[in-house]
Amino acid sequence: MSGHKGINIIDLILRKRNKGVLSRDEIVAFIEGYTLGQIPDYQVSALLMASFLNGMNEDEMVGLLESMINSGEVLDFSDIPGRKVDKHSTGGVGDKTSIILAPIVASCGVPVPMISGRGLGHTGGTLDKLESIPGFSTQMNVQDYRSQLKEIGLVMIGQTDEIAPADKKLYALRDVTGTVEFIPFIAASILSKKLAEGINALVLDVKFGSGAFMSDEQDARKLAETLTNLGERFGTDTVALLTDMDQPMGYAVGNWPEINEVISCLHGHGPQDVMEVTLALASEMLLAGRAANSIDEGLSMAEEAIDSGRAWAKFEELVQKQGGAVESIRQPHKRDVDRKEIEVLAPCDGMICRIDAKIVGRSAVSLGAGRMQKEDSVDPLAGIILKVSAGQMVSKGEKIASIQATTSERLERTMDQLLPAFEFGEECEFRISRIKDRYADGTWLNP
Ligand code: URA
Repeated sequence: MSGHKGINIIDLILRKRNKGVLSRDEIVAFIEGYTLGQIPDYQVSALLMASFLNGMNEDEMVGLLESMINSGEVLDFSDIPGRKVDKHSTGGVGDKTSIILAPIVASCGVPVPMISGRGLGHTGGTLDKLESIPGFSTQMNVQDYRSQLKEIGLVMIGQTDEIAPADKKLYALRDVTGTVEFIPFIAASILSKKLAEGINALVLDVKFGSGAFMSDEQDARKLAETLTNLGERFGTDTVALLTDMDQPMGYAVGNWPEINEVISCLHGHGPQDVMEVTLALASEMLLAGRAANSIDEGLSMAEEAIDSGRAWAKFEELVQKQGGAVESIRQPHKRDVDRKEIEVLAPCDGMICRIDAKIVGRSAVSLGAGRMQKEDSVDPLAGIILKVSAGQMVSKGEKIASIQATTSERLERTMDQLLPAFEFGEECEFRISRIKDRYADGTWLNP
């Protein structure tokens, strides 16, 4: 039986099952056939599982990525001046850095065409956060995407059907066949969407720890290496920061609550950890965009963009362009009356040693800030506001968090789920910096 372009799909499955290697042409034909609906899900599932169990070599990964990129439209922004730079995070709890750094970088003259995702599992998504701004639209056709990038140097939208459609089909299949947690698939999935975006450089934030998609640091290092090396092979300058996601980033977790924190950050009052990661990633983007000549210069430029109000002005421009109510970000507290809130109190005296990001993320999802199922809608106002951070001493009965949502229905239930996230002790060690390492040009800074 032959499949697309004369390949025998059963032969490919058998070869991979027997630990053999597939050629680039075979992989290309296979992905093309699947995208066109000519190869059934059950055969693709078998091949995915055989690859998952027996591994893929570098050439196979390149073939997979290439065919996934070419499964849809590959954008070309070469007519727009400047090096186009994007950032991708492997996802975290309270990670709102994209929404802060994109206006910072764009306001320094580096065009940022950003395509982001929705919340996945216990991690939040940039699109859901942006859409919590009343009226903000993240859906746009490629033509409008291009013209907004040209006009204001910044555009933030969701995945379109035109870009890397193979990933959409494959991701849905991986999700139900136990083949998600495999570095070659993850790398091809992330990069196919990013490299089809028409960018010259990509800055990656690869996270590890309880709140990250890859909790183990060594796995996260391997993912960072694979992503960076593959990106470079496809001609996109790629650098990765390895960051700690064991505890929630900043104080706010949830869509509108995080936008509130973004607003504070862009006014220069952001939490230390959020600003550390945001400024580091922004300076990498400024360096990759050749607006800065060094990381230090990039850092100063990013700080100055905030201090001068330029980054905030760019954010207002973005919100206004994409249909959002600028008034709502100018006076965010006006929406406070639309939500219910309960307080979480410390059950004992002691030092907060750790706040488990995964528990906080899951609590926020069940509160309505994320989705249990793909079809679920999110409550834009739902979220958890931490009042403490690791290393802080608290007394029994002191306020340690508040839980907020549009209706009071789920508030009490979330309290029970959230409390175990707070780990108390007498004295404990905790990391000061979230940034653990940097990978570029095949080397780690702190191996
Ligand atoms: N994010 C993606 O886009 N793809 C994966 O496979 C995993 C995380």
